[in-house]
Amino acid sequence: MSLTDLAIRPAPARHDTPFARDVIEGLSAARKRLPSKHFYDRLGSDLFEQICDLPEYYPTRTETALMRDIAPALAEAALPEGSVLVEYGSGASTKTRLLLDAAPRLRAYVPIDISLSALEAASAALRRDYPALRVEPVLADFTAAFELPASARGRPLTGYFPGSTIGNFTPAEAAGFLARARRRLGPGARFILGADLVKSEHTLVAAYDDAAGVTAAFNRNLLGRINRELDGDIDLTAFAHRAVWNRAESRIEMHLASLKPQTVEAAGRRFHFDEGETIHTENCCKFTRESLAQIAAKAGWSVQDLWVSPEPEFAVALLL
Ligand code: AVJ
Repeated sequence: MSLTDLAIRPAPARHDTPFARDVIEGLSAARKRLPSKHFYDRLGSDLFEQICDLPEYYPTRTETALMRDIAPALAEAALPEGSVLVEYGSGASTKTRLLLDAAPRLRAYVPIDISLSALEAASAALRRDYPALRVEPVLADFTAAFELPASARGRPLTGYFPGSTIGNFTPAEAAGFLARARRRLGPGARFILGADLVKSEHTLVAAYDDAAGVTAAFNRNLLGRINRELDGDIDLTAFAHRAVWNRAESRIEMHLASLKPQTVEAAGRRFHFDEGETIHTENCCKFTRESLAQIAAKAGWSVQDLWVSPEPEFAVALLL
């Protein structure tokens, strides 16, 4: 390649990434929105790990305690000898260790995550602590199509989707995701689903609007990421974090509210905000036992077993 070749080429397609496309589309919409999956760059993944340790954020510690209690029964029912565990959105793979400890006959573990830094760190730590386990990470957006590693072929496959990340989908999207996972994992597949249940508004809002402001920083980091990756000029202090309970939709919504009329630049475009206008950045749907069973059924699964923690209630379901 010669220098002249380089000179006549268009600028690198920095604004033609999935993130850039979602930002341009989402901030151009009449009701501004950004997909929550873009929270998880390196800083966002770190902030999420901090959220998990907050006193108000009950889901992680509640699910972990429940998993610790049920791991033997769950492994017995969901992880037969020679099976492969496929985790959607594995992050730090912390809860997974409880399953790995209870299922030493597992053939392989396939963590799928959108964050390269989280995936690398988790895989290295697991290989160190479980030397006999095959760890085959897949860097992918699990909401899109991706390939399972060859070693998973012909094996009994068990999907694992903890953390109530299923709540980031609308109920229709959740059913679509579970149906695709069922097809992808193939006949005889099993699926372990962690889902947060509806509880008092006070408990829910506190979990998403903590006193230390970590969730606010996590939400605003989306704007920071736009600045870093898409040449944005957004003033993070000109947006406020909001967490509201939408009872009709049974979900916590996170928004970023513009504190003044302003125009920002990002991805080579300009976007105007009225005072008080928000960007809807996340839905965290909360379920009932009935709504979970309904979504699973719509996707072709049936709830074989359901374990629920003492309050604050969090559910782990085994789908067949
Ligand atoms: C990682 C999607 C399960 O919805 O509770 C935490 C993300 N957002 N605090 C959740 C999140 C704000 C979290 N999930």
